[in-house]
Amino acid sequence: MIKFKSISFKLGLLFSSLFITLLIILGVILYGAFTNVLIDYIKQDLVLRGNNHARILNEQFTESAINHVTEMEKGVATEVLITDANQKILGSSSVPTNEMKASILDKSLPPGDSTLVDDWYNEPYLVSASTIGDGTGYVYMYYPSSNLREIVFVLSVLLILTGIGILLLAFGLIGLASKRITRPLKLMKKATEKMAKGEYKQHFTVNSKDEIAELSQSIQTLGDQLQYFEDSRNDFLAAVSHELRTPLTYIKGYSDILGKGNIDKEDQKVYLDIIKKEVQRITFMVNDLFEMSKLQVGEFELNKEIADIQTVIEKVVNNLKPAATKKNISVILDFQPDLPPVEIDVKRMEQVFYNLIENGIKYSNEGKMSIRAFAKEDFIAIEIEDTGIGIPEKDLPKIWDRFYRVEQSRTRKSGGTGLGLYVSKKIIESHDGTVHVTSKVNAGSVFRVILKKAKIEEIGE
Ligand SMILES: Nc1ncnc2c1ncn2[C@@H]1O[C@H](COP(=O)(O)OP(=O)(O)OP(=O)(O)O)[C@@H](O)[C@H]1O
Ligand SMILES: [Mg+2]
Repeated sequence: MIKFKSISFKLGLLFSSLFITLLIILGVILYGAFTNVLIDYIKQDLVLRGNNHARILNEQFTESAINHVTEMEKGVATEVLITDANQKILGSSSVPTNEMKASILDKSLPPGDSTLVDDWYNEPYLVSASTIGDGTGYVYMYYPSSNLREIVFVLSVLLILTGIGILLLAFGLIGLASKRITRPLKLMKKATEKMAKGEYKQHFTVNSKDEIAELSQSIQTLGDQLQYFEDSRNDFLAAVSHELRTPLTYIKGYSDILGKGNIDKEDQKVYLDIIKKEVQRITFMVNDLFEMSKLQVGEFELNKEIADIQTVIEKVVNNLKPAATKKNISVILDFQPDLPPVEIDVKRMEQVFYNLIENGIKYSNEGKMSIRAFAKEDFIAIEIEDTGIGIPEKDLPKIWDRFYRVEQSRTRKSGGTGLGLYVSKKIIESHDGTVHVTSKVNAGSVFRVILKKAKIEEIGE
């Protein structure tokens, strides 16, 4: 069914009307030019031949000469008629018809040698008149107009047929072309309708390299992105509920036991401690979640100040010392003297290094941690190296994801939620810094943070 509002119809209509107009103009010009040239040619030919006959008859205006001339015009399309000075017919190539006579008698004679009748459309003959000598007689040449009309008719039919042929071809081509243009549009419409219903991932091929193809590519990328967001939102919700459920189960279980009574004091304390620990875990997690949501909507503001990274890290290390000592892990600090200052949000950077160093301690059984910092070009690099359990290669890219933990059961024992690295990375990136990790299972990991040096000169000016 033809949709009159569709682009392909509108395009088709536009191009076809343009085409038809052009074709009509071209047809009229061709028709006019051709008939003009043809008629002119015949008229000239008539006059020329008439003049020739007149010249011959001027030399010798005798009966034999007249017969000779009329003989020459027999068996051809043209006719000749010779008269004396008073229009009395002396000879003709065929018996002159009334029409032939009429076309000369009621006309005043031409001033010189020229066409006498040229209305090929209405008159039966095209007629030319040539004067013999100074007017001793006249030579009239006739060309039947019906011949001309036939030629012009055939020409018109040919023109119209070619026109129709070209039109049909053009319609076909225009139809194909506009279909080609609108096909990807239709595909995109379908795809976006499906996307609106939640089927985000849409794939279709557009075999061109124009703006429409680019648009279709953008739509597909958009779909992929939406799908990614949808998936990660679902994963996130699943992870949050899972993470909350576990400590809540502990709390419920132990409070049930406590509620039953007849438990000795020592066990009571153990159970209460567990409950307290789980409550704290939930608190930490909720805080992390809150932090994370702020990070995600980009709502958090950085309170940047010029600071010395060594002081920041030393403070964190001091806080974590007891945990390290407990696991028999020595912490070695190695700072390049006179490190240039950095411009950071101190509280948040403390959080970053707390996460990284805590991880190093948490995921080591014993050994040592080395924390180095040195300046290079415009940057300061801080490396946090442990001799712990390491991270398998396949997990390396994922440890920065929310809630990702290499080995869920292993981390459960150590109490992590898998948000630390996610939050740390966000904070580092918001400072225009980067963080990378290299790690080897059972050998240890190195986290390298790169921060920009503070632009002291600018601030001082
Ligand atoms: N230094 C490290 N050595 C070995 N594995 C590590 C190290 N740092 C991180 N990981 C792995 O990466 C995972 C993600 O770390 P992340 O700090 O984000 O979470 P977490 O420590 O489990 O919990 P959170 O920091 O939120 O309390 C960890 O669970 C752990 O499996
Ligand atoms: Mg951590």
